Amino acid sequence: VRQPIIAIDGPAGAGKSTVTRQVADKLGLLYLDTGAMYRAVTWYVLECGIPVQDETHIAQFLKTCQIRLEPQGDSPQCRVWVNQHEVTQAIRSPDVTAQVSTVAAFPAVREFLVRQQQEYGAAGGLVAEGRDMGTQVFPDAEVKIFLTASVQERARRRQLDLEKQGYEVSLSQLEAEIAQRDQQDSTRPISPLQKAEDAIEIQTDDLTVEDVVSQILSHVPSD
Ligand code: C5P
Repeated sequence: VRQPIIAIDGPAGAGKSTVTRQVADKLGLLYLDTGAMYRAVTWYVLECGIPVQDETHIAQFLKTCQIRLEPQGDSPQCRVWVNQHEVTQAIRSPDVTAQVSTVAAFPAVREFLVRQQQEYGAAGGLVAEGRDMGTQVFPDAEVKIFLTASVQERARRRQLDLEKQGYEVSLSQLEAEIAQRDQQDSTRPISPLQKAEDAIEIQTDDLTVEDVVSQILSHVPSD
């Protein structure tokens, strides 16, 4: 039997990475962070000095952009390479974060990455997180989850994350950035952030990571 695909979508900072990684570990399935892939392309675009608005130029450069993801220990974040460069840290920089939604809106970029994402899931046995896992990339996923949290709570969580990586950013700035990224991701014409009709929504403001993980696991069919 095919192992299940679990699709986890939601806005920035809803806790997707931590939860997805733990669900994957508990079930012994592969973990796929598709946000890291969009970030990797964005890092490459910036590194090559291509203006982030220049869709035609970006589309051409995709041919020379090879992305590789590899789980690392217990960390919710994969190790990520673009060609021979390790970009695990670099793709979390405020610069990449500020530009990624612009790059992720381009059809050529989405086609390029969605194809790779579907290859990861071709044999099933995957927990994938992103914005369009349940709606576009894995519409037949066995379990679809939509994680949400208030902007305030997500900004607070992002701030803790960033502090651990040595970045200091104010809460109000993070709230503004998150709200802007939500707006960009939800209103783009292609694959906007959207809850799939058959997704289970989990509002995580008052839940612990363990609570969320066990709720998700309770929806996974055993066998
Ligand atoms: O999840 P993360 O915050 O790392 O995602 C970064 C950005 O990548 C999102 O804000 C969104 O613009 C884009 N993204 C996307 N589709 C996905 C995953 C991420 O458009 N499946």
